[in-house]
Amino acid sequence: MSATSAATARIPIIDLAGVRGGDRDALARAGREIRDACTTIGFFYIVNHGVPQAAIDRAEKAARQFFAFPVETKRRVAVNRRHRGFNALGDATMYQAKRPDYKEFYSIGLELPENDPDVLAGQALRGPNNWPDFMPELQPALYSYYEEVGACGADLLRAVATGLGVSEDFFASRYTKRMQRTQMVYYPPQPPQSDEEQFGVAPHTDYGCITLLWQDRVGGLQVREIANDTWIDAPPIEGSFVVNVGDLLARWTNDRFRSTLHRVINASGRERYSIATFYDPTYTSPVDPHDLGTADADCKYEPVAAGDYILGRINSSMGYRKKLAAAQGTSQGIE
Ligand code: OGA
Ligand code: NI
Repeated sequence: MSATSAATARIPIIDLAGVRGGDRDALARAGREIRDACTTIGFFYIVNHGVPQAAIDRAEKAARQFFAFPVETKRRVAVNRRHRGFNALGDATMYQAKRPDYKEFYSIGLELPENDPDVLAGQALRGPNNWPDFMPELQPALYSYYEEVGACGADLLRAVATGLGVSEDFFASRYTKRMQRTQMVYYPPQPPQSDEEQFGVAPHTDYGCITLLWQDRVGGLQVREIANDTWIDAPPIEGSFVVNVGDLLARWTNDRFRSTLHRVINASGRERYSIATFYDPTYTSPVDPHDLGTADADCKYEPVAAGDYILGRINSSMGYRKKLAAAQGTSQGIE
């Protein structure tokens, strides 16, 4: 067996067709498969996920077009305090990493007008997106992708809830004004002389609940397999998304679900593109392990508001936010 097929045997492929079709048995089965994946490796692929290929193709094309602009042009939509916009090479350093990630990325979130009550109240990370006037095609392409992946995330969480033994609607009421963040990522080919401390993305866990990743055909994503203490490839599989548990869902499940280290090394000599979607709850949603069936005596974590947790994690990994916070004279990071 090749290394790749061995790896994919350990990262299961879960079919969402029946879940989307409202089939009770399929929902129960997918729930069990997801629970098994999340309590072991923390990663799985989904297929028949319902996101139209045309929406993916359009978003991919937009990503290629956007990152091809000169960096001075892209900086016209430099990331703002709401974490919307463009980050250049060197802007993100993962916890304990020696060097910044070798990637550029562009982030969007739920489009909210300036007069939205939460925006007016100053809720962190909320507000309008930071769309480029130099590329008007980006907004319709990326925002329709955002909506399609959001719908897929909702289906996925019905199966997750079922696997956790709670009502399939458990997450829906906690996602009414979701903190979904979608990032297009561009990995330039890593210079051949780069040392072993240089990563496209250094080893990290994701902060939020669940991540849905589209990756192009280049490959380079690797997942830490705790059982064998080794890195395994999560190779591109046509028509799939890679899904993984983030730290907030691990916390919500009192660590029954595992938030697994992963990294990207783009040693292909080619450009690599991916689109990561962090599908997270409403800012004020309490994340309390009791709500997912943890008994009082076993509970390891205090309840936390989903948004406060995510904000804290973004503040500590993003260099630009530390600089802004220092300028504002606060050690808490900016909101
Ligand atoms: C991330 C991530 C992987 C990739 O953005 O958190 O792990 O393939 N991305 O881009
Ligand atoms: Ni990640």
